[in-house]
Amino acid sequence: MISPVLILFSSFLCHVAIAGRTRVCPFAGILENGAVRYTTFEYPNTISFTCNTGFYLKGANSAKCTEEGKWSPDLPVCAPITCPPPSIPKFAKLSAYKPLAGNNSLYGGKAVFECLPHHAMFGNDTVTCTQHGNWTELPECREVKCPFPSRPDNGFVNYPAQQVLYYKDKATYGCHDTYTLDGPEEVECNKFGNWSAHPSCKASCKLSVKRATVIFEGERVTLQQKFKDGMLHGQKISFFCKNKEKKCSYTEDAECIDGTIEIPKCFKEHSSLAFWKTDASDVKPC
Ligand SMILES: *[C@@H]1O[C@H](CO)[C@@H](O)[C@H](O)[C@H]1NC(C)=O
Ligand SMILES: *[C@@H]1O[C@H](CO)[C@@H](O)[C@H](O)[C@H]1NC(C)=O
Ligand SMILES: *[C@@H]1O[C@H](CO)[C@@H](O)[C@H](O)[C@H]1NC(C)=O
Ligand SMILES: *[C@@H]1O[C@H](CO)[C@@H](O)[C@H](O)[C@H]1NC(C)=O
Repeated sequence: MISPVLILFSSFLCHVAIAGRTRVCPFAGILENGAVRYTTFEYPNTISFTCNTGFYLKGANSAKCTEEGKWSPDLPVCAPITCPPPSIPKFAKLSAYKPLAGNNSLYGGKAVFECLPHHAMFGNDTVTCTQHGNWTELPECREVKCPFPSRPDNGFVNYPAQQVLYYKDKATYGCHDTYTLDGPEEVECNKFGNWSAHPSCKASCKLSVKRATVIFEGERVTLQQKFKDGMLHGQKISFFCKNKEKKCSYTEDAECIDGTIEIPKCFKEHSSLAFWKTDASDVKPC
């Protein structure tokens, strides 16, 4: 007869024998496009997984070596992150797009949009395939109209003969004789439904001074020759003045602003008959 004590004892011995054998799982130290963290591949250790940028873990992020010497759950793989073709915003078209994974794009892939004519873009023209497998925010294309530009006083403006003026349409300005354009010759309808500038025509200046040597654009010129037809808006000259005490000369600036120029108070005009007087422009500078 076998005593119950003996049965218990032999069962105990068996357990000790199993525990003494090391159970090893298959090598799992490499994960393509990722990394494995482990100490050993023996029961009952757990190993963990991460994927490189641009890849996602397909499967669990850790696995345990079981008593049977198997990984549980199954080992994962690192699969490339892809984005489906981006949707096209209204009134836009793709200007650059190259899917590299069949019809899909890989992580970091880009698509560039442009708006249809008459439409302006709000947002970034470039979208990028993100780590979530979606695209960054799409831009918006909106139809933009500009009002007809108004004719400047003493000048004219030309623009396309259309019912409506749209984004990127251009207008050109000019001025009548003796008037000078203040602003660019060409303006453009911008994305805010506004013209890039509003040029105007400014009057020339008649000079009250008959004779003087002045400095214009760094050179000595005679007023009566250089500006016999007056000065244009925006032109600047420097007059010579005398410092009586120190017997030397200095200059003061004057600018023609829309028909008006202020002659420096220190400037003294000599009659052409007063030949014995030395002009300020011939006196040594202070
Ligand atoms: C790409 O898209 C086209 C048209 O939708 C389809 O016929 C084709 O099977 C797709 N190719 C892949 C690799 O998915
Ligand atoms: C548009 O997006 C690209 C990449 O997505 C970025 O490099 C660029 O700086 C963005 N431009 C603007 C104006 O935000
Ligand atoms: C992309 O997906 C992420 C995660 O689901 C989300 O938070 C994000 O808002 C999405 N981006 C866009 C532009 O839809
Ligand atoms: C248009 O331009 C004018 C002058 O440059 C400015 O005052 C106005 O705010 C602009 N309007 C819009 C809608 O941008």
